[in-house]
Amino acid sequence: MKTALVIYNTKKGATKKLAECISEGLNSKGVEVTIKESEELASVEDLKNFDGYVLGSPTYYTEPLEDTARILELAAEAELKGKVGAAFGAYGWSGEAPDIISAAMGGRLEMDMLPEPLVVKTPATDDECARAASYGELIAQKMGA
Ligand SMILES: Cc1cc2nc3c(=O)[nH]c(=O)nc-3n(C[C@H](O)[C@H](O)[C@H](O)COP(=O)(O)O)c2cc1C
Repeated sequence: MKTALVIYNTKKGATKKLAECISEGLNSKGVEVTIKESEELASVEDLKNFDGYVLGSPTYYTEPLEDTARILELAAEAELKGKVGAAFGAYGWSGEAPDIISAAMGGRLEMDMLPEPLVVKTPATDDECARAASYGELIAQKMGA
């Protein structure tokens, strides 16, 4: 069975909700999902041994939340080159964070990224959760699940 680690940052819960919807999509394709708020991840070991990695943050002041940089640093140490990756996040008006995360994962970390991150304007509707679940299915497909 394929496994995925879904990591999110959030202040108000919108990006957590997206993480849950993406996880539903992954689950529906038979992927075993571990979902964590970023602060629950303490060491490199926590990031090892998954087939896919999905990292999300909302945009605050045009950037991902601060803990995202720490997670990317741990991910660099975990040597995830070639692993399937995807980025996502909720936003209000400009929504830079998912692109920034995706560029870091595909660039410096050399991960095998979905072509586009999932970027959702809040307030998110049920339709947006369905879109996030479909995105999860796409990630599963790329993982060969
Ligand atoms: C202080 C503050 C700064 C924000 N800055 C941005 C921003 O630069 N660009 C943007 O698209 N949204 C911005 N937002 C909107 C948030 O990204 C949006 O509310 C998002 O849904 C929050 O996600 P969360 O519930 O996961 O924390 C900002 C919101 C606040 C409260």
